[in-house]
Amino acid sequence: MFARHRRLRQSSGIRDLVRETVLTPLDFIYPVFVVEGENIKQEIPTLPGNYHYSVDRLPEVVEEVHKAGVRGILLFGVPDYKDEIASSAFDENGIVQKAIRRVKSFSPELVVITDVCMCQYTSHGHCGIVKDGVIDNDESLKFISKIAVSHARAGADMVAPSDMMDGRVQAIRKALDQEGFTHVSVMSYSAKYASAFYGPFREAAHSAPQFGDRKTYQMDPANIRQAMREMEADVEEGADILMVKPALSYLDVIRWARDRFDLPIAAYNVSGEFAMIKVAVQAGLLNEKDAAMEMLTSIKRAGANMIITYYALEVGRWMNGK
Ligand code: PBG
Repeated sequence: MFARHRRLRQSSGIRDLVRETVLTPLDFIYPVFVVEGENIKQEIPTLPGNYHYSVDRLPEVVEEVHKAGVRGILLFGVPDYKDEIASSAFDENGIVQKAIRRVKSFSPELVVITDVCMCQYTSHGHCGIVKDGVIDNDESLKFISKIAVSHARAGADMVAPSDMMDGRVQAIRKALDQEGFTHVSVMSYSAKYASAFYGPFREAAHSAPQFGDRKTYQMDPANIRQAMREMEADVEEGADILMVKPALSYLDVIRWARDRFDLPIAAYNVSGEFAMIKVAVQAGLLNEKDAAMEMLTSIKRAGANMIITYYALEVGRWMNGK
C-alpha cells in the first residue's frame, strides 16, 4: 500500500480546494517613494515599474493602490536637504509629512504607514546620530521619537521604525502617548538584517552610508535566536506588529516568529528580492507571474500576515484580472 498523493492534484478544481495558502491583495503593503518638486512621476531605474512621486502626483498612485485592491502603503521620503541630525525628517513641512497630509485628504481610509528612520535624511547616511564615528544609540532615540511624533501629527495610522536602535519602540510609544497619539500603532522592523538585498532601495532612496556599514545596528544574517530576543523586546516595549526583513532568505525567521508570538507578523520582501526576479524576467529566464506568485506565496506560507512588496500593484492587478 502506498499513498495516492496525486489524487488531490489531478485537476485545477481539486487543487484549488486543497490549497493551504491563498494570497490576496489584502495581504500586501505597497512602498511609495516621495520626492520634493512638482509634477514628478519618474520610474526608479533600480525598481522597474515603481516610481518617485512628487506630493501633487500622489493621488495617482493612491488610485492605483485602490485599483489593485491593496489597503496599505508604506511611505518613504527622499528629501532635498540632509544634515547631521536629519532635521528634514521631523520638519512639519518635511516631504513625508506633506505626503501623509495629501494622501489622507484624498483617501482617508487608506492605511498610511511611515518608515521612521534617519538614513535618507542624514549627510552621513547612517540610521542614527553619529558621535566620534560611532552611532550613538540613546541620542538617536530622541530624534527617532521626534520623527515618529511628527508623522503621527501629520496623520499617519502607523509608524514603522527601521533604524534598529535598542529601546526605540519604547521611546516611540512613550512619545506618541505623551502627545496624545495613543491610537497610532507601531510596526517594528524587529528583525532587520544587515543584508546585501537592500542595494536597489539605497539607490532609490539615496540612503547608502557614506562611511562604514550598518553591521553595528542591523542584525547578522547568521542569527535567528538573536532575532527572537529582538522580537521579545519589541513585544515588551509595546510594538503592535513585528516585522522580519528581508523575507526570502529569512523564511525560517518568519516561521519561528509566527510560532512564538501572537502579534501580527509582517515580512518585507525587499528591493533586491524584487529586482532579482525582474532582471531574470528581462533576461528571458523566468515567467514573471509564476515566479512572483511563488515568491509571495512562500512568504505567506512561512507565516507572514502581511507582505510589504514592490509587486503589490502588479500582482494585485493580476489577481483582480485588471
Ligand atoms: C531604511 C530602510 C532600508 C530599507 C527600508 N528602510 C534600507 C537600509 O536599511 O539600508 C530597505 C528596503 C528595501 O531594500 O526594499 N533604514
